[in-house]
Amino acid sequence: MTGLSAQQPPLTTIPSDIRTLADYERLAQNHISPDAWRHIQAGAGGETSLGANRAQFDRFHLVPRMLSDMRGATTEVHLFGLRHAAPILLAPVAYHRLARPQGEVATISAATALDITMVASTLSSISLEDIAGAARAAAAELRRPAPPPLWFQLYFQPDRAYTLDLVRRAEIAGYQVLVFTVDASVKRSDFALPADVEAANLRGMPRLSQSANAAEGRIVFGTPLLDAAPTWDDLGWLRSVTQLPIVVKGLLSPDDAKLTMDHGADGIIVSNHGGRVMDGLIPPVDALPAMVEAVEDKIPLLLDSGVRHGTDVLKALALGARAVLVGRPQIHALAVAGIGGVAHMLQILRAELELAMAQTGCRSPDTITRHILRDRT
Ligand code: FNR
Repeated sequence: MTGLSAQQPPLTTIPSDIRTLADYERLAQNHISPDAWRHIQAGAGGETSLGANRAQFDRFHLVPRMLSDMRGATTEVHLFGLRHAAPILLAPVAYHRLARPQGEVATISAATALDITMVASTLSSISLEDIAGAARAAAAELRRPAPPPLWFQLYFQPDRAYTLDLVRRAEIAGYQVLVFTVDASVKRSDFALPADVEAANLRGMPRLSQSANAAEGRIVFGTPLLDAAPTWDDLGWLRSVTQLPIVVKGLLSPDDAKLTMDHGADGIIVSNHGGRVMDGLIPPVDALPAMVEAVEDKIPLLLDSGVRHGTDVLKALALGARAVLVGRPQIHALAVAGIGGVAHMLQILRAELELAMAQTGCRSPDTITRHILRDRT
């Protein structure tokens, strides 16, 4: 069985009963191989974090505000000096070709049409250059001067020379923001990539495996993967080799937030990696208020894990996030209906956000504050 093999073909029209991101999730399983489906959906351990990531949003009720003048309202936000049409980004997700042969080219073309940034993963199944090219081509087709800002997610490689190579390639390809993911250096996964899907950015680079020293009785400690995992020194090094804004992804601790600022990073994504790396982690929404306090408005905080509704976006912003990212839904929509599916999924999310802002009298993202929330607990 390969990731690209005989599942139901993608839909060519979007049925009218697809109205929410949950509808895409429900249908996606029919359009993707069972192995890939399990890999994409899985949470770590007993999957309590996976569940908590959704439940965290349900803890809050929204208090609507009526009769506000919404003329001139906008969802636009500026991050690192770059305009983003909405406070919603597509999170870096590896190997989009597991869902459709066009992979990241399809996803970023759809995101560009909806004026949304897709963060390209180090583990993309299309090269970072081709992804940037696809975004530009989609923008040109839409007669736009440029695509939405290009963001590249960096996984440190065992050797700094290879990491630097990725950074330089991203700079040359025109990426404007670097996301340094720090929470997934070691994790358990028994998923084997199908033969026709590869980490296109890492061709020719050495790869470390967690099982490499299994014969010597090593499990995690003492394995090359853990020994090569990046540290705060590496963040300092990254800061010294690039002018691009650096956003550290995968933090939940206010102390780490402070260290991140000390090391010169420009932003943080408060995230538990969609509950994939370790079970029992604090959900990002619970972690957010202390993180907001720690950074004292000096750098923006973004949030992901479990965002599925426009009201989730509103709640995250009310708690102090400047934007959110969505992970799995992009793969669900890509599997179900290719480019059209991803565009429709983003359209749903943007429409839900605008509706939620209108109902709560919020004319722009920076007017969304805690006063619209009631904690039910
Ligand atoms: C991810 N995520 C991820 N993160 C990252 O920084 N680099 C990566 O390559 C990947 N790859 C990846 C693959 C798959 C299949 C999933 C589901 C997730 C994590 C991702 O960026 C994000 O943090 C979570 O997906 C957010 O949670 P939700 O929206 O999926 O609940």
